[in-house]
Amino acid sequence: MPLYDLPQRPRRLRQTGNMRRLSRETRLSTDHLIQPLFVMAGENERQPIGSMPGQNRLTVDQLVQEARALDALGIPGIALFPKIPDDRKTTDARHAVDADGLYPRAIRAVKAEVPDLLVITDTALDPYNSDGHDGIVRDGDIDNDATLDVMCQIASVHADAGADIVAPSDMMDGRIGAIRTALDEAGHTDTALMSYTAKYASAYYGPFRDALDSAPRRREGVPVDKATYQMDPSNSDEALRELRLDLEEGADFVMVKPALPYLDVIRRIRDHSDVPVVAYNVSGEYAMIQAAAANGWLDERAGAMEALTSIRRAGADVILTYFARKVAQWLDEA
Ligand code: PBG
Repeated sequence: MPLYDLPQRPRRLRQTGNMRRLSRETRLSTDHLIQPLFVMAGENERQPIGSMPGQNRLTVDQLVQEARALDALGIPGIALFPKIPDDRKTTDARHAVDADGLYPRAIRAVKAEVPDLLVITDTALDPYNSDGHDGIVRDGDIDNDATLDVMCQIASVHADAGADIVAPSDMMDGRIGAIRTALDEAGHTDTALMSYTAKYASAYYGPFRDALDSAPRRREGVPVDKATYQMDPSNSDEALRELRLDLEEGADFVMVKPALPYLDVIRRIRDHSDVPVVAYNVSGEYAMIQAAAANGWLDERAGAMEALTSIRRAGADVILTYFARKVAQWLDEA
């Protein structure tokens, strides 16, 4: 006879591996993962990014190799970000619309060599902007509508180069509608739009800005941070407003960024969205796990798998993560 009369024993479902497998609510698979990659000018070079151990800036030929490896692992797509040299940066970010620039060349190269791998491109201006902002700086502020004009041109250049999904990461008002119209008018009706719907003004982008040298410049007349366009970390109802606008304007995917400090927002967006929800597990989230693992303070694999599973449990259908390649390998071995 048991000591206690406990007809309800939740531990029954945790007894063995197969029992846990049968009662598991959330699954993490390679199907959900997008690998962000950094491209730079040059040839046959991989430059390690100090603040993101395991991640590199890649020349186009190396990028293609990496794309091939990710495709072979079953990863559905990559999100591409360019490292532009300082002498190419201007206050109007005009290099961004050069169809022969590094970024369109990189898109064309990947699509030519690994056609099935989805290429997700960014239309934000910061990598090309000598002021280091996602939009055009005018009179000490970000000019929303002037920025839209440039981003519409960038989106067309990317779609012409073969981008499958255009993903503006800038948080300007009205960008999804404006870019949708521009793409449709250029005949790119099948190019999808992934909106950075709720992108917060976050400290966790630090390593990324390091990788691209894209932080706002400390200069008179240039806003010191991105608080006038990225969302206040205190807000969550506002994310639903952004969601409503993005859906009205035609977003095909909606994103929450960063991921781990905003799991509650992911859940709310999931509950209100009828398109796939994406979460961006950003550079700082990656760097924290890497730093702790390097010190022996936690296990990288277990820590990463738990974090990504939590993001799925919160409601993300797709995760952009610097762990994508490793996770695909881990899942392959399992
Ligand atoms: C800029 C951009 C940022 C990231 C992606 N695009 C940083 C920022 O807004 O300053 C961050 C990604 C990461 O941290 O991994 N448009």
